[in-house]
Amino acid sequence: YSLLSHNTFGIDVSAARFLEYASVEELQQQIAQGAVTTPFLHIGGGSNLLFTKDYDGLILHSCIEGIEVTEEDERTVSVRVGAGVVWDDFVAYCVAHGWYGAENLSLIPGEVGAGAVQNIGAYGVEVKDLITAVETVNIQGDQRVYSIEECGYAYRNSIFKRPENKSVFITYVRFRLSKEEYYTLDYGTIRQELGKYPELTLPVVRKVIIDIRESKLPDPKVMGNAGSFFMNPIVSKEKLLALQQEYPQIPYYELADGQVKIPAGWMIDQCGWKGKSLGPAAVHDKQALVLVNRGGAKGSDIIALSDAVRASVREKFGIDIHPEVNFV
Ligand code: EPU
Repeated sequence: YSLLSHNTFGIDVSAARFLEYASVEELQQQIAQGAVTTPFLHIGGGSNLLFTKDYDGLILHSCIEGIEVTEEDERTVSVRVGAGVVWDDFVAYCVAHGWYGAENLSLIPGEVGAGAVQNIGAYGVEVKDLITAVETVNIQGDQRVYSIEECGYAYRNSIFKRPENKSVFITYVRFRLSKEEYYTLDYGTIRQELGKYPELTLPVVRKVIIDIRESKLPDPKVMGNAGSFFMNPIVSKEKLLALQQEYPQIPYYELADGQVKIPAGWMIDQCGWKGKSLGPAAVHDKQALVLVNRGGAKGSDIIALSDAVRASVREKFGIDIHPEVNFV
């Protein structure tokens, strides 16, 4: 079974078996019939994966659809969304209905279930800010609802990423959005871009976010990629102060715990990697945090470039950066 259309990096690998299900009942039936065999890997839109070889097992994919309002008052709306819903379709739905909160996450590739696994985030918002609970079915077919506290959300992380939870499948995600107008506009150039529009509205914010993303991030349909390839490293204030001696312009974000997050893209750029290639793999010319497949790359080509980039950053800044993308 070819996985070419199931990974945005465009790596040409195959899986021994592939199974899709469209409801909780169908998943439970497949489990009861013994169709969910090990090894298995549950994927979403394949937008955060790097396949390094053929997968000798079962690939699972949820096609659970549906956006359902479960509760509503004057100020908020609670919605239950199928894990297989395309993330940006959900954002567009929220914006069309005048529900505030998700608009900064416009155009993030992937599906709702995978978004809840890795706590997708952009432009000052993380999906954990909107989630109230996550519904699951495990490999025994048992249903369980995780409250937001139980999900253990952190930067691009949750308990669903832990190895012992690889057999917990997300079926629905519950969100709460605001019907009262509010925006998150303090990241990067958002306010500046908004200046081009006469009015501040939900559709305008969505448009601005889409424009910023499209100007920096390559379209996977045109050039294979998985968004940010690395996580932004978190370092101590002391480390930042030391770096500022040599690089007064270094960008950083202060975190609640007193540490700081340094943009790996900036460091990779400083190392001179932007737009450079190594065989069929390249560092994107408009955003150095993104590695791209120039055509026909294998997982090993991407890893070779990743290793070279990491070595440069370690040498120049004394910081280890780690892939955000999951290697399979
Ligand atoms: N920068 C450079 N050169 C570059 C890239 C970035 O100098 O080639 C500088 C920028 O000028 C800016 C800073 O680095 O000062 C941060 O850049 P940017 O705003 O593009 O964001 P990022 O930190 O590189 C993160 C997320 C993105 C998300 C953006 C916007 C991670 C791993 N990545 O990137 O998420 O869209 O912020 O919020 O946290 C993803 O996860 O796949 C993803 C695209």
